[in-house]
Amino acid sequence: MARLLSASRAASIVGVPRGVIQKHIQNGELTSFEGKIKLSQLVALYPDSEIEKNDMAEKIEEFIASALKRARYAKFQKLITPDTATLASRVASLIKELAEAKKALYHQQQLFSQLQDYLAEESVSNKQNAEVYQSLRDWLNTTSNNLATNIPQIDPLLQKDDLLRIMAAQVHIMPSGLEYFIEGKSSILEAGLTTGSALNYGCSNGNCGKCKAKLVSGKIEKIKQHEYVFSQAEKSQNYFLMCSNTAVTDIEIEAEIAGSEDDIPQQSLSTKVKKIDAITKYVSVLTLKTQRTNRLRFFAGQQVKLTLGNNLVQTLPIASCPCDESFIQFHIENNSSPFSRYINTELKTNDAVKVDGPSGHFILDKDSTRPIIFIAVDTGFAPIKSLIENALSLEAAEYIHFYWINTQAEKPYLHNVCRAWNDALDNFKYTAINVAHLCHNAPPPQDVFSACLSSLIKDHADLASVDIYSAIPKPLIEFANTFFMAQGLDTEQVHFN
Ligand code: FES
Repeated sequence: MARLLSASRAASIVGVPRGVIQKHIQNGELTSFEGKIKLSQLVALYPDSEIEKNDMAEKIEEFIASALKRARYAKFQKLITPDTATLASRVASLIKELAEAKKALYHQQQLFSQLQDYLAEESVSNKQNAEVYQSLRDWLNTTSNNLATNIPQIDPLLQKDDLLRIMAAQVHIMPSGLEYFIEGKSSILEAGLTTGSALNYGCSNGNCGKCKAKLVSGKIEKIKQHEYVFSQAEKSQNYFLMCSNTAVTDIEIEAEIAGSEDDIPQQSLSTKVKKIDAITKYVSVLTLKTQRTNRLRFFAGQQVKLTLGNNLVQTLPIASCPCDESFIQFHIENNSSPFSRYINTELKTNDAVKVDGPSGHFILDKDSTRPIIFIAVDTGFAPIKSLIENALSLEAAEYIHFYWINTQAEKPYLHNVCRAWNDALDNFKYTAINVAHLCHNAPPPQDVFSACLSSLIKDHADLASVDIYSAIPKPLIEFANTFFMAQGLDTEQVHFN
């Protein structure tokens, strides 16, 4: 039987973002059978995708190296290799599959051999139809020989698929169709949140029961005890907590997940200041820690209202990824406003900050597989950072290019973070555009901004086929929108904060 692969698994095997595989399906280059594709079709499309080294240890090292590379932006990822018990269970499951495949092969061989014997006998004993039987016999042998000499080179990809199945189990969530891998010993919830998906959860700790899910197929393993108690009915229907279990084999589960920003309830959280970093004289980075029993659910790119000190209130975009469960980051402009002054002079570690939200519609279009261009001016980087981390986790875009227009100093305030992404990821490019000498910490005038946008056209001849997310000063939005429409983009491809 043909081996079927999910889009995520196929992407891992041939080393491309998942969005590229989805694009092949949309273009009809790969046929999808209930969301899965045939390995043989993948081989035909990627004939050069082979594992050159044959030694298994080297392959494992290769796999771990690529996982580590991804972990540079998935900083919450704790372990990337499964523990011994999980490895043993995965190997046992592959051995069982191998035994079944051998049984099926034996059956086919017996059938083929008996068919050959039958045709040989009939071509001699059945005088009336001897020629027909002989010609069938010849056809069968010729076809069999031809097939044997023209078997597609699927061995290396089969090996890689088996290796991936040992190193990482795949989770398929219904009815949303979300797919992701669990590497190391992460919980099903932790690994899901790294994709930036809004899974339903509360405490991450086995108390609230909000991350309840139903196991449809596959094997899970409890990695921490929980206090939440399931009813008998829930137990008999295979309900479990995603925060307290990992996947031993590939699993299919039913779980609640927000499809859009409207599905996420308004929340009010008490948080504590984790740290305040005055990164430059223009910008400070504020990090808040949420309570273990109450995390914030939001989509990357959204904003929340912060209340601190003597009722100082400001709505700010979140600069971190939803995957970073415990911490929420904000980029604060250092100016003369009471809110900014309070943060820079009064606020201390462990002070209380109230968080209300989330709100806003500046979120990734999860149905798009187009390349993405992000544009930020100064602290517009905050929501863009959240979106970039989310887009990288989702591996949905074939290519990402981030332009950071900086009016404040020689380099943008988190220049090194963007440089690290640029260096670590093959499909990520970062361009810093310094206009500080022209703007002196003021929003860029239209002619300066227009010159910045012109560099996009130079870099991207096919600008009309990308999605653009811009976090720029409000007075420039209309100008930028007119500019993008003139390049042939549709309104659905252009997003402003
Ligand atoms: S039990 Fe609260 S998130 Fe899992």
